[in-house]
Amino acid sequence: MKTLPYPFFRTTEQAALAAWPLVGCGDKNRIDGVAVQAMRSMLNLINMQGKIVIGEGEIDHAPMLYIGESVGAGRGPQIDIAVDPIEGTRMVAMGQNNALAVMACAPQGALLHAPDMYMKKLVVGKKAKGAINLGLPLADNLNSIARVIGKPLEKLRMVTLDKPRHQEAIATATRLGVKVFALPDGDVAASVMTCLLENQYDVMYSIGGAPEGVISACAVKALGGEMQVELLDFCQAKGESEVHRKIADSERSRCAEMGVEVNRIYSLDEIVKSDEVLFSATGVTNGDILQGVRDDGAVVRTQTLLINGMERTCNIVDSLHHL
Ligand code: FBP
Repeated sequence: MKTLPYPFFRTTEQAALAAWPLVGCGDKNRIDGVAVQAMRSMLNLINMQGKIVIGEGEIDHAPMLYIGESVGAGRGPQIDIAVDPIEGTRMVAMGQNNALAVMACAPQGALLHAPDMYMKKLVVGKKAKGAINLGLPLADNLNSIARVIGKPLEKLRMVTLDKPRHQEAIATATRLGVKVFALPDGDVAASVMTCLLENQYDVMYSIGGAPEGVISACAVKALGGEMQVELLDFCQAKGESEVHRKIADSERSRCAEMGVEVNRIYSLDEIVKSDEVLFSATGVTNGDILQGVRDDGAVVRTQTLLINGMERTCNIVDSLHHL
């Protein structure tokens, strides 16, 4: 694991650099495709025996980096990897802020191995550790967080995604007086921002992707925050219909095969079973944590957030690329 920080941040850098010429192109599949290709090529150069334990889907969805895919040069440490080559493909396609190329890793067996499905997530920073219980209503959690960090509810800041399925949660929070920040996409950045020392938010609540949840959990763990999650099937996240039911049934059987449970609350230590974690995110477009890729004529610049649980460090790395 100790040899991996540099190759890992170079990997998210390359994915961001591959996607950046396509910012605003309107085609999210194309953007994802080039980032996947760049990420896979870099991962396969690293001296490790890596396995994608959670990512963009199953082997039949290849060329995505699929769940169960082996990556690495075939020698070195055995590593579990969670990937999202572009977190915010829509944002890159539409030229919007806050898109990242991101991944995280931990020693083999340490990361929750789950299908690419929906996951309910609740995240708080260090100061609110011990204050959350996803089994209780959101209002109880907000009250508890406010009490533990010693803030009136009116000063509490909740970040979420601006999705129809979050309407009730947003209404609950605003009724209590909590200030709600609803981002169009990107709950990894939202989770990290909740846990950084200069935290912009006190709590992150979202129903989003499970890969994004596991990636975020690595950052949350290394930053000393707390997170609880629950896997939801497609109908629970998107509503009942015949088509949704078919997806939900196949998600439930895949979960059974993989040994994870839908509608069970997982603690942070169950999502990430080791403190030896690495999280790397490179900005594709400008964001609240990182600047996006910039071309100043002579060089191309990238900015990467590298969180290292082994060293308990958090670096923002500026790189100049003479392309
Ligand atoms: P992708 O670009 O990887 O799809 O993720 C963007 C994102 O907003 C995630 O942050 C979030 O977890 C998920 O999508 C939410 O899912 P949906 O796009 O279905 O609302």
